[in-house]
Amino acid sequence: MRIDIITVLPELLKSPFEASILKRAIEANLVEVHFHNLRDYTSDKHKSVDDTQFGGGAGMVMMVEPIDKCITALKEQRNYDEIIYMTPDGETLKQGIANHLSLKENIIILCGHYKGVDQRVRDHFITREISIGDYVLSGGELGAAVLCDAIIRLIPGVLGNETSALTDSFQDNLLAPPIYTKPRDYKGWKVPELLFSGNFPKIEKWREEQAYLRTKERRPDLLDD
Ligand code: ADE
Repeated sequence: MRIDIITVLPELLKSPFEASILKRAIEANLVEVHFHNLRDYTSDKHKSVDDTQFGGGAGMVMMVEPIDKCITALKEQRNYDEIIYMTPDGETLKQGIANHLSLKENIIILCGHYKGVDQRVRDHFITREISIGDYVLSGGELGAAVLCDAIIRLIPGVLGNETSALTDSFQDNLLAPPIYTKPRDYKGWKVPELLFSGNFPKIEKWREEQAYLRTKERRPDLLDD
């Protein structure tokens, strides 16, 4: 899989890809992540990427031309499955979207800034708009990092234990059950006895019940879907 990220702030975005699981995935060639600085696609001496709004109003708008040049240059080199725009008015990111995108070959992620991009970018280039939640960030970069992390960890071979992404919260519309490790007794706080029984069907049943109870208590909305 290849991910091309278009941004005015590549430095804000790079560090999550230089540590831990994402770094390993890149080093193992399971994913390629490329950053494109929008200012490299400007034609004026100030390298402007934004301007004031037509019709008046506070805040700057990202111009169509540098974005067109950047996306067009990328599309000349390969086909893209999705061109995603990170925006608070997009579809809210859910596990299902990450699952779907993890199967794609090539995607572009455009990070917005200021008030956002000229509507013509959205009308003519963007195939999908994603929000990471109902709050406004100062730019799409942190959202893009969240989206990439959610996608990349699902690519086969990225997680050591192939089954562990399948047992994540949300994969079956349930939150994950409680988990424990050593010591068995810490300051009198005991691990449930059943987990030492060796009765794996029973343990599995307990985990399913716990996942259901936790979901019912914390996120009953997930049970309605
Ligand atoms: N850009 C600004 N706010 C955002 C959000 N909530 N999700 C994705 N991109 C954004």
